[in-house]
Amino acid sequence: MAEGSGRGYPPLDPPIDSPPRHIAIIMDGNGRWARKRGFLRLRGHERGAESLRRITRYCARIGVSELTFYALSTENYTRRPDREVGFLMKLLKDFLIGERQELEDGNIQLRSIGRTEDLPDDVQTELEITRKGSEDHTGMVLRLALNYGGRREILDAIQKCAESHSNSASGGLDQALANLDEKSIRKYFYDPDMSDPDLVIRTAGEARLSNFLLWQASYAEIWTTQTLWPDFQVDHLVEALKDYARRVRKFGAIDPLDRETEETPTPTQ
Ligand code: FPP
Repeated sequence: MAEGSGRGYPPLDPPIDSPPRHIAIIMDGNGRWARKRGFLRLRGHERGAESLRRITRYCARIGVSELTFYALSTENYTRRPDREVGFLMKLLKDFLIGERQELEDGNIQLRSIGRTEDLPDDVQTELEITRKGSEDHTGMVLRLALNYGGRREILDAIQKCAESHSNSASGGLDQALANLDEKSIRKYFYDPDMSDPDLVIRTAGEARLSNFLLWQASYAEIWTTQTLWPDFQVDHLVEALKDYARRVRKFGAIDPLDRETEETPTPTQ
């Protein structure tokens, strides 16, 4: 929630100390959750959507700035049975329509990343209406990765860069590619405003990125749990936040404590 705006959910009391700025979540285990109970996989996704709502609300209350969910990978979209993909599309559409009031109440902005242009037209329409309707909300960004793949995002970015400079007077394509660096490539990503995730959470006992935010998660702290996504509660998130708070983030440098020792030579005996 933007401070002093008077919009959004009431902040948590007592507050969580320095929550990560950006949390990204790989929601895994919907199918296993359903199978364990003898339900169709679709029921698992339905319950997964409830976890997504619960965690979104909590993150907005503790002052997280960005929350990104891997809702559908390119691989999920192209390799799952039509019935499952169709159900996920319906769930997504219902979510986009049903959450508009909640986004308003929470002062939350909805965005997406991924090749959304390949989603069914009706889903694209609702996505755009919800995005547009929430764009002036100044609180947390809730971002859905939809038909998303990290490798594809990097390739798409390079292609966008090439396209935008192919007829340019300012040196053309060769110059544009030569000038491309770690900062400037971001403006060609699906959401140029997205910051790198500080914490990546993956549920259901898996410990891989599965093509999620490959560029952006380079220095993210990764936290995994055996808990299946539909069972994921606020308490699990709090556990992840406590673990995150204990991590020392070095970004390739040395531990600040080591630096002190290195810079203050100990007297020789
Ligand atoms: C992974 O579980 C999860 C997905 C492929 C889809 C995640 C989608 C949701 C939680 C639905 C809600 C999203 C919105 C925005 C409404 P899995 O099916 O791979 O589980 P398994 O590995 O146990 O089979």
